[in-house]
Amino acid sequence: EKGGYEHFMLKEIFEQPKSVHDTMRGRLLVDEGVIKMAGIWDHIEKFKNANRIIIIACGTSWHAGLIGEYLIEEYARIPVEVEYASEFRYRNPIITDKDVVIAISQSGETADTMAALKLAKEKGAFIYGICNVVDSSIARITDAGSYTHAGPEIGVASTKAFTAQLTILTLIAFKLGKHNGNLGNADFMSLIAELDAIPKRIEDVLASTNELVQDIAKDFVSTTNFLYLGRGYNYPAALEGALKLKEISYIHAEGYPAAEMKHGPIALIDENMPIVIIAPKKGHYDKIVSNVQEIKARKGKIIAVVNKGDTQVSAMADYVIEIPETSECFSPIVASVPLQLLAYYIAVYRGANVDQPRNLAKSVTVE
Ligand code: M6R
Repeated sequence: EKGGYEHFMLKEIFEQPKSVHDTMRGRLLVDEGVIKMAGIWDHIEKFKNANRIIIIACGTSWHAGLIGEYLIEEYARIPVEVEYASEFRYRNPIITDKDVVIAISQSGETADTMAALKLAKEKGAFIYGICNVVDSSIARITDAGSYTHAGPEIGVASTKAFTAQLTILTLIAFKLGKHNGNLGNADFMSLIAELDAIPKRIEDVLASTNELVQDIAKDFVSTTNFLYLGRGYNYPAALEGALKLKEISYIHAEGYPAAEMKHGPIALIDENMPIVIIAPKKGHYDKIVSNVQEIKARKGKIIAVVNKGDTQVSAMADYVIEIPETSECFSPIVASVPLQLLAYYIAVYRGANVDQPRNLAKSVTVE
């Protein structure tokens, strides 16, 4: 049932070309220039008249939500707030019937996310679910929603569910933006054509980085700390990369927006600190170059995720992982793949139980 892979996690990482494709199936109709999503379309007035969208989630799903904020604000120009479900529910939040609350949950059973949704519903908000598990509790309580259709995710560390969540959020952002006129037709058409080709990009990344990342992982088996940095869309991708590593390898890892480095974490950098930096061409590249220079000057070990043909960051990096160039909004999907592999191989070399890491459960049904 692991399809010849040693672990479910690796199988699920390699399934992503297919799972992302499945998420888009029947929804993204490139030739017709249409995104079909009944859950959105049937309630389009709610989204159109929303004062703001609040995204609530936990863990990896919360990271997807942060990227959703970048997507929806950029393309649909609707204000978005992203909250940990656990914080939202306990702080007497201000919610009105003009709010749309979107819950993101792979399992659809996370207790905090469920409770936060109930609260939002009581206060009159329209509640929307992005779940992977069909007919789960969250899918049932919400007014409407979109399933991610990534297929069953067995590994406790979320991988294909995350990229499927990003795909749904991208579809929602483009659909709302097209509808409310913030995303012009020409841009819409070129973005959806690019989205349609993302499964192929993921396939390319898996093929071109798997062995390389496996080699890189060997050098970090005894490392005790890691930093992950990114900017813009790739700041949440950095958080997610760090979470993957800590969950399955038990190495302490922190994600930061690269510009925040100088406000504290830079004090940690010396020759023993590996820093994973996500630095695609589109996305504040020049700013990232100066961050990398600062790290280099302090002898940090740089593992750079860059676009093919990159020179500036690559010249300073100790390890270079190349991914194809995409529009900025798609780069977290593509960049996450080698980071999943990096966490996976480091954990395997450390002899950890990657599919069932200690202390963790696949769905957190307790508060
Ligand atoms: O099922 P959910 O998406 O609601 O789960 C949320 C988190 O518990 C989950 O993403 C957790 O952080 C994963 N172990 C991440 O790999």
